[in-house]
Amino acid sequence: MSTQIDHLLNETRRFSPPDGFAAQAVGSADLYARAAEDREAFWADQARELHWHTPFTEVLDWSTPPFARWFGDGELNVAYNCLDRHVEAGHGDRVALLWEGEPGDERAITYAELTAEVSRLANVLEGLGVGEGDRVAIYLPMIPEAVAAMLAVARIGAIHSVVFGGFSADSLRSRIDDAGAKVVITADGGYRKGKVSALKPAVDLALADRNGSGVQESVEHVIVVRRGGNDVDWTPGRDLWWHDVVPAAAPTHEARPFPAETPLFILYTSGTTGKPKGILHTSGGYLTQAAFTNRVVHDIHPETDVYWCTADVGWITGHTYVTYGPLANGATQVLYEGTPDAPHPGRWWEIIQKYGVTVFYTAPTAIRSFMKIGRQVPQGFDLSSLRVLGSVGEPINPEAWVWYRDIIGAERTPIVDTWWQTETGAMMISALPGVTETKPGAAQVALPGITIDVVDDDGEHVGTGNGGLLVVTEPWPSMLRGIWGDPERFVETYWEKFADRGFYFAGDGARLDEDGDIWLLGRVDDVMNVSGHRLSTAEIESALVAHEATAEAAVVGASDETTGQAVVAFVILKQSYLDRHSAEGLATTLRAWVGEQIGPIARPRDIYIVGELPKTRSGKIMRRLLRDVAEGREVGDTTTLADTMVMSTIQAKITTK
Ligand code: PRX
Repeated sequence: MSTQIDHLLNETRRFSPPDGFAAQAVGSADLYARAAEDREAFWADQARELHWHTPFTEVLDWSTPPFARWFGDGELNVAYNCLDRHVEAGHGDRVALLWEGEPGDERAITYAELTAEVSRLANVLEGLGVGEGDRVAIYLPMIPEAVAAMLAVARIGAIHSVVFGGFSADSLRSRIDDAGAKVVITADGGYRKGKVSALKPAVDLALADRNGSGVQESVEHVIVVRRGGNDVDWTPGRDLWWHDVVPAAAPTHEARPFPAETPLFILYTSGTTGKPKGILHTSGGYLTQAAFTNRVVHDIHPETDVYWCTADVGWITGHTYVTYGPLANGATQVLYEGTPDAPHPGRWWEIIQKYGVTVFYTAPTAIRSFMKIGRQVPQGFDLSSLRVLGSVGEPINPEAWVWYRDIIGAERTPIVDTWWQTETGAMMISALPGVTETKPGAAQVALPGITIDVVDDDGEHVGTGNGGLLVVTEPWPSMLRGIWGDPERFVETYWEKFADRGFYFAGDGARLDEDGDIWLLGRVDDVMNVSGHRLSTAEIESALVAHEATAEAAVVGASDETTGQAVVAFVILKQSYLDRHSAEGLATTLRAWVGEQIGPIARPRDIYIVGELPKTRSGKIMRRLLRDVAEGREVGDTTTLADTMVMSTIQAKITTK
């Protein structure tokens, strides 16, 4: 990390908002002043931008920290706010979704049409007995039905748990089980990299009795969208085709009001243990901050902008900045099913040109992979419609930031680097495009109404020019309300470290520069960030040791030019296996195994077969030393190792490979 800090310290480039931008911008410097004057009144104003069936009189209840309640006595319907309200305001003909399938098929869906589709599905779900508080798992490709499914679940006061389509049957099963989902909404398959990638078989496997523990019990129905056209197995009585049940249902559905703290969704994310955490978000506060940040950070003008966030709805970015934020704001957005390079490496730029995208939000890993391919690809397209570019998911290195601005943004567009987490629900730190003088590589400033600090281990403010731990010092509207089924883990993970001060511990390192601006430096725990996706070392280790060939495993995140970090595993194999198989063969087998257990994103880039692992005298694996090896650095201080020779043996093994 120290080389990274040195590098960032030397970054002196500054970019002012383009001429004329501030005059038309939604956000202004005044927002900071208003929020500083009265933070709760500021958020109450933002919340009143939504439609409340019952207006709230309380803003924040923080009487039992860390369990917050925002706008607690108000009532609203999240789907009504994202749909019907725009139709009633006369914008029913405005396009909500400009959908582009990977093979090039397209659909434009207006707010009126999306409202009708969501209403139909809400009727279907209610007909299947799904009601307030029930959980519905969604395992879909990036098709309009994914957005519709989330909104239909929200409309009836039920709770969705979207599982990224790239996750394995095992991961899906554990998420369905943990949430006790009653219905699963899936597709036969979707297009990825020019081929149909099947999804339904993973659902069948997730719901099957595979280990004699009994058939998965909570799921009563599976609704299947036909997208890939691939053959699927069918369980009569349980499985229903979307095209049989949804078009047959009534296109109207009354959006009943629900209390502001009604759970909206659970989204699983990796933590420092092997078991993913079900992060719980509720309705009023979440939607308030989702809509506000989308409006001011992306500078959304719903009448004229064409917005595109490239995230999959399986991640928090897709929840907040594909489904909830932009639709609450009545924006028109692009939804794209496939990968950036299918069928050609200019696919994203072609889409920007085709739809005249004005606001574009993506991840640094994508930008870095485009840099690698070369500027000639985007330069082959007309990107002149772009006026705001956003970045999310991991620190963006200054070179990628500047390339993004120069090559994609014609040396003109503001870049907003937005820091936030699944847990924070919405953006927390970012420049405002018409206000902030931006610095390549820094997320810079807490958003209006958000209070952030960088502190030392004791919770003391570090002061400008210093590094430390990032904390949120006061509750915010879209904060997580808990971990599904595990209140103790919620308190322990985020609140115990600075319990005496009541700070939320984000798990990220950060530095304050001389101006007091914030530079994010990556995770300080055993969580990795690979291509903007969060992975836990412990989860991958437990997948590795679940294979019968493995005796022990240690996983580290090593820095990687394109993906930010990459998974590197050090594995001790059982002698009986080594006698019968080659180490290389077993490494290949284990890579595939991790892919099956968790999903392809978790597959280690490198697997090193070693004889021992570096451990302290108390038996703790020293991952720091393994990271040194994985990143090709000189190995650090080994004096606390039980056996100081271990590292030289490991290193010798790796360099002779
Ligand atoms: O380490 C931070 C990094 O991503 C983590 C959150 O991951 P996840 O919950 O999957 O949410 C990703 C999308 C919001 C954070 O703890 N992170 C996210 N955005 C940034 C970032 N690191 C630096 N700069 C960012 N802009």
